[in-house]
Amino acid sequence: MSGSQAERHPQFTEVARAYDELMAGVPYRRWVDYVEKLLKQVRASPRTVLDIACGTGNVTFALADRGYEVAGVDLSAPMLAIARRKACRYRRDIPFFQGDMRCLSLPERYDLAVCLYDSLNYLLSPDDVQQAFASAYQVLHPGGHYIFDVNTIYALRENLFTQHCLDPDAPVRYDWRSSYNAETGIAEVVMDFWVREQGRVQHFTEVHHERAYTEQELLDWLARAGFETLAVYEAYSFRPPHPDSDRLYFVARRP
Ligand SMILES: C[S@@+](CC[C@H](N)C(=O)[O-])C[C@H]1O[C@@H](n2cnc3c(N)ncnc32)[C@H](O)[C@@H]1O
Repeated sequence: MSGSQAERHPQFTEVARAYDELMAGVPYRRWVDYVEKLLKQVRASPRTVLDIACGTGNVTFALADRGYEVAGVDLSAPMLAIARRKACRYRRDIPFFQGDMRCLSLPERYDLAVCLYDSLNYLLSPDDVQQAFASAYQVLHPGGHYIFDVNTIYALRENLFTQHCLDPDAPVRYDWRSSYNAETGIAEVVMDFWVREQGRVQHFTEVHHERAYTEQELLDWLARAGFETLAVYEAYSFRPPHPDSDRLYFVARRP
């Protein structure tokens, strides 16, 4: 797909209204269990948490339910609109800020910053990732922790995003086609959606781009930003990464 077509179908705009339906099966609470195990392992007991690239707030609300004082930040206004609507509905006083993770400017600092569900892969250059790490460092108190996940090069190369659900009874049908460019390291995912709304089916397309980085690159950039990396694991385990791990978790600390 050409650049202009990708611009006509920007990511995290139309999909916002279908996002929570699409993610209905995602075990967000188990992810927060895992984050808490990681925190326990590094003997961290944060009180305040910033959910970076919070989207519609699914991780943010799950953290709030565990008693953390949370805030969320995301680039996408439509995703944030859903998060804020849910905060009203659940009567949760959670600030949701609009901002770019590469240059966060927030009124508070936090004990923990999380950035989950491949949000960092949406940064398409090494410079972007380094800016995001520097920015995460700035939003943390000294001694604060930074936990993020990433899709690996293996996940993008194997086109694990090529997925579909075309069940006519599903409230959201989708057909995603991923193609990986080994030269740029970028996967382009053309995503078609059909959403049933008020008895009518609406079709829309979004084109997403993700880039994966090696574990060593991420470790180097964390160190350059001033972080001490405490652990890197294959997602949802305490096993070290291996060549066909599709998602990794990093745990870093601002000294
Ligand atoms: C796959 S979604 C994950 C959302 C949420 N963390 C979750 O677990 O449901 C990726 C999110 O990253 C956000 N995002 C992408 N680039 C960003 C940037 N530069 N700064 C802040 N948010 C960004 C998107 O708007 C989107 O909400």
